[in-house]
Amino acid sequence: MSTTFQLDTSTSRANPTPQPMKRLTVPKIRAHKTDGQSGEPLVMLTAYTARQAQLLDAHCDLLLVGDSLGQVIYGLPSTIPVTLDMMANHAAAVVRGSYHAVVVVDMPFGSYEASKEQAFENAAFLLKQSGAAAVKLEGGAQMAETVAFLNQRGIPVMGHVGLTPQAVNVLGGYMARGRSDSEADKIVGDAKSLDEAGAFAIVIEGVVEPIAIAATRAVSCPTIGIGASAQCDGQVLVTEDMLGMFDRVPRFVKQYENIAEVIGKTVAQYAEEVRSRAFPGEPQTYQPKS
Ligand code: KIV
Repeated sequence: MSTTFQLDTSTSRANPTPQPMKRLTVPKIRAHKTDGQSGEPLVMLTAYTARQAQLLDAHCDLLLVGDSLGQVIYGLPSTIPVTLDMMANHAAAVVRGSYHAVVVVDMPFGSYEASKEQAFENAAFLLKQSGAAAVKLEGGAQMAETVAFLNQRGIPVMGHVGLTPQAVNVLGGYMARGRSDSEADKIVGDAKSLDEAGAFAIVIEGVVEPIAIAATRAVSCPTIGIGASAQCDGQVLVTEDMLGMFDRVPRFVKQYENIAEVIGKTVAQYAEEVRSRAFPGEPQTYQPKS
């Protein structure tokens, strides 16, 4: 399926994405960390729509089409109900809206855990349908064989360890991980297994800082923290969280703006102007030609 369309700007409100420039690549992201040293931290944000991707792209090294879209876009209670089709459609939109960042798409719950063959089939579907460059999947040592299998067959994989939201029913909630010695050892071991299996980067989510730092030091590929540490090789946030779209602000989020307030105020003004017939005004109405 082609995800590229020619936009007629006289009929479509979608902004055309600038002419493709040379996009960053997965090997470039991987090479960001060499001999255990990485330069300036990698910048990753979630994106789910074409216009959002256009606005974020120039500032980011990676755009993640996260399965967090289940909660953020669809109002679902968790990421568990998210489907492959949802991921493929949003990832295609993000690819259409971007030209610089590497686009990574999350494999949703149930699409990769059963076997490495199942993972290949569904990861290939996501990349074919969307044009994204890589997939992300959750889990540590138990996913290493799958990561190697995909990687050897042309599908770059980003790992995800620590707090893995698709396992919420096993974990019992979204609490930070790595507080006990056994959990801490497991997180570092998971990161190492994924690294050895060929993951090009690893998200470390919701992990107490010393363990996030230990995991970062233990692996050769870049780590990308969320609720982890500034010592990770990069950072990611859910864009709507950092823009202030939601009332609940998790501890690890820095709210850079309060977009919900801006929208509320703007829409209240629109509603007031409609009700008082101040809108539409003369500039927004068509008059007969004289
Ligand atoms: O789904 C998502 O947005 C994620 C990030 C929070 C890392 O996995």
